[in-house]
Amino acid sequence: MTRGLRINGDRLWQSLLDMSQIGALPGGGCRRLALSDEDRQARDVFRQMCLDAGCDVHIDRLGNMFARRPGRNPDLPPVAIGSHLDTQPHGGRFDGVYGVLAGLEIVRILNDHNIETDAPIEIVNWTNEEGARFAPAMLCSGVYAGLFDLDFALSRTDADGLRVDEELARIGYEGDTPCGKHQIGAFLEAHIEQGPLLEQHDEVIGVVTGGQGQRWYDVTVTGRDAHSGSTPMSGRSDALVAAAHLVTAVQDIALAHGPDGVGTVGELHVSPNARNTIPGEIQFTIDFRHPDDRVLSEMDTAIRFAASQEKVVQVALDMIWHNPPVQFDTRCIDAIDKATRDLSYPYRYMVSGAGHDTCQLARKVPAAMVFVPCRDGLSHNEAEWAEPEHLVAGANVLLQAAIDLSRQVAPEARPIRQSLNTTGKSHTYDKELSR
Ligand code: GLV
Ligand code: MN
Ligand code: MN
Repeated sequence: MTRGLRINGDRLWQSLLDMSQIGALPGGGCRRLALSDEDRQARDVFRQMCLDAGCDVHIDRLGNMFARRPGRNPDLPPVAIGSHLDTQPHGGRFDGVYGVLAGLEIVRILNDHNIETDAPIEIVNWTNEEGARFAPAMLCSGVYAGLFDLDFALSRTDADGLRVDEELARIGYEGDTPCGKHQIGAFLEAHIEQGPLLEQHDEVIGVVTGGQGQRWYDVTVTGRDAHSGSTPMSGRSDALVAAAHLVTAVQDIALAHGPDGVGTVGELHVSPNARNTIPGEIQFTIDFRHPDDRVLSEMDTAIRFAASQEKVVQVALDMIWHNPPVQFDTRCIDAIDKATRDLSYPYRYMVSGAGHDTCQLARKVPAAMVFVPCRDGLSHNEAEWAEPEHLVAGANVLLQAAIDLSRQVAPEARPIRQSLNTTGKSHTYDKELSR
């Protein structure tokens, strides 16, 4: 009987439109930085929607939100469905929020038809997925998965020095439950692809098998402030010129490790930032990604070599985050694959280019993802757009996969089999979990 069940596309679309009003930007996008007032508003609306759908909502120490619809067997851990409500500074209307509201729509449609699943179904909103306000990204799903320490997460600061714990308390989303104790039997996330492949191939569903690796760096280039008119070109220690070489090096290194290697300098601060002073200090970020961790090591060596070539300034290059590639769970992938084929959607298997909460969770619990196309592959942009029928298709796949998995989850979620080094400033976990 559940085979013919389909989600309510109009209701899903309306909830996306409603959420897009919170932190709305003039260009059609959203700005809901993690733990900001706008994030609080989105959380309040989401919580009320879940309560209205008959769910119990609980919040852990890091503000991760879990809304539970009970199942037939209360001893089973839930099939959790979710993503994040925070956005980039110039974010779109779908990145993250689609995955959360697709989970809500699944609960609503199960309610409409009085369907009892075996395991409970939960909708999850993970705190600070984007990493735009507090680095690194996927911070609180990372703590849940045991990859970061709680204290590390609580002490992250934004550009104004505000800490995660202060901001959680300020917006009223500091819960009691220890982060990571709340059991999950399987985790599913629907997301826009944020890349061009599905659209280019006229496909509707991406069955995502894993995520590529990431390395994030903080770089400080120190030169010497000096007068722009009276300091000869030969005697300068211009930090911005050196930083410009390194920005170009990031581009060259990514291209040299193409087509899969990508590298971005997304943030740069010039000091003192005055027209007639030679810049004495530059701080900037580097984001390198590749599906193969060995290639990421080569990219790391190459940027360190480039930094060592800057002779008239000092360069401090700190790798603040090393997130190796991850494989998703075979049983979850199979459930998504089966649902996609049953629903006859054109699909492809793919590896995620973006980071997602699932990439963290998959190191602790069985997890996988569904992608749907987005226009021109564009994301982290106010113009981000996904066709309603594609969003419906992704949610239908998620619905069938969740029902399927609710019959399969084991009373105990799979444990982490290796301890991961997550203390200190530079975060590395090199060993993939063997399953
Ligand atoms: C998050 O959107 C990321 O991939 O950095
Ligand atoms: Mn996202
Ligand atoms: Mn994003």
